[in-house]
Amino acid sequence: MTNGRSRTKEAVTGGAVILIGFMGPGKSTVGRILAERLGAEFVDTDQVIEREQGMGIPDLFRERGEAAFRAIETETLKRLLDGSRRVIATGGGAVLAAENREAMRAGGTVVALKASPETIIRRVAGGEGRPLLAGDAAANVRRLLELRKTAYDFADFTVVTDGLTADEVARRILHFLAKESR
Ligand code: S3P
Repeated sequence: MTNGRSRTKEAVTGGAVILIGFMGPGKSTVGRILAERLGAEFVDTDQVIEREQGMGIPDLFRERGEAAFRAIETETLKRLLDGSRRVIATGGGAVLAAENREAMRAGGTVVALKASPETIIRRVAGGEGRPLLAGDAAANVRRLLELRKTAYDFADFTVVTDGLTADEVARRILHFLAKESR
């Protein structure tokens, strides 16, 4: 599914391929496959943040708070959107700031991965490593999905990943990218 907004071909085919989506639909797994097929570097903003801050995301949330995490996330994302052809997997909340959405749209092709609440709940299991899901992970997934109902709709292309392997998802994205570059 492509969105209705028209973009110039150059804007869509240049720069990065940015994977957005809620926690759990396979952004990192698909991103790795995609990067390999495109012969591009793969980066995951959460992994970059963890490495650079020297602590895991849960510790970062606990010690410095969500607002500090979001500021670091914005800075990291903008730094990675430097015009290079790389595949960037973003954290599920990276789309919440308009500033981030604008940087993503300007920096490359935005691809959303979606999945049903049931698939997401199964994939995130107990919410381990994801501070926003702490406590009742399933209830938190449903609450956040409702809050973020339209948050991922600004993508150039969306794949609903339920029932698809990561390879199949990557193939659909590659097909879209090839079509757009023609
Ligand atoms: C978050 C998603 C996480 C991570 C942080 C916050 C969110 O990334 O950035 O826990 O707000 O949805 P994943 O989507 O990779 O789990």
